[in-house]
Amino acid sequence: MKKRKGIVLAGGSATRLYPLTLAISKQIMPVYDKPMIYYPLSVLMEADIREVLIISTPRDIATFKELLGDGTQWGMNFTYKVQEKPNGLAEAFIIAEDFIGDDNVALILGDNMFYGANLEEVLKRANERESESTIFGLYIKDPRAYGVVEMDNDNNVISIEEKPENPKSNYAVPGLYFYTNDVVKIAKGLKPSARGELEITSVSEEYMKQGKLKVEKLGKGMTWFDTGTHDALNEAANFVQTIEKRQGIQVCCPEEIAFKKGWITNKELSDLADKYIKTNYGLYLKELANNKLGE
Ligand code: G1P
Repeated sequence: MKKRKGIVLAGGSATRLYPLTLAISKQIMPVYDKPMIYYPLSVLMEADIREVLIISTPRDIATFKELLGDGTQWGMNFTYKVQEKPNGLAEAFIIAEDFIGDDNVALILGDNMFYGANLEEVLKRANERESESTIFGLYIKDPRAYGVVEMDNDNNVISIEEKPENPKSNYAVPGLYFYTNDVVKIAKGLKPSARGELEITSVSEEYMKQGKLKVEKLGKGMTWFDTGTHDALNEAANFVQTIEKRQGIQVCCPEEIAFKKGWITNKELSDLADKYIKTNYGLYLKELANNKLGE
């Protein structure tokens, strides 16, 4: 299978979260018990993507490096690049040109959280599609704040629009994109939109025109949050807390995923657990390392 690398875009000025984000990055902020960026990183990990480029602002990149290092602690490989200005999501592919090289790529937005039963299966299908690109579609009541996708019975995209006033479907496009290697070329050919950005929706539109864009529907058991406002951030945190407390499992825990995939050993997991041993998070990892947690 053609290799796929990952990008987490953790840029932007997050003015909708002011004053929280006056001095720190949104994607560093807590969603209950872990920094926000752990959630999108977990999604890439579930998709078996181990080489990840993290893109952030000149101000914040150092904080991400301090938090995540070179990735070896999770059996991964992290590199970092700066997006000088918020010129749009599609600029990530231009910044990532050398990193992407000859491989396919998945981009996830650093403030998007996914959780649900069929995630792994859906990611696998997207990952295995080598010469077509994949976006995702989630049924929501009012999708006007998002990209909106319309598809035929074979899940081919027939229209995609950015924040339409009159949506052609109820399927919002979350911030996760599996594109083929030519995405760099496509991104380089884009013109800034009315809001002055290189739009990710224009990239998807190009693949649609070429007849090479599929949608994976995220079914009823799937939860998707974007954490861009005070309410959304709080709702996401409450959701994670509810599941973790009631079920005693972790939501989007990178250490757990790395361990279950065999990327780190019992001993390595146990050492990571020792670092956080004063928290339920640390105790959870410890029990996992000691094989005391059931599936
Ligand atoms: C961006 C994309 C939009 C997508 C959304 C998901 O919107 O442009 O298509 O639905 O992310 O979070 P933005 O957050 O830039 O408004």
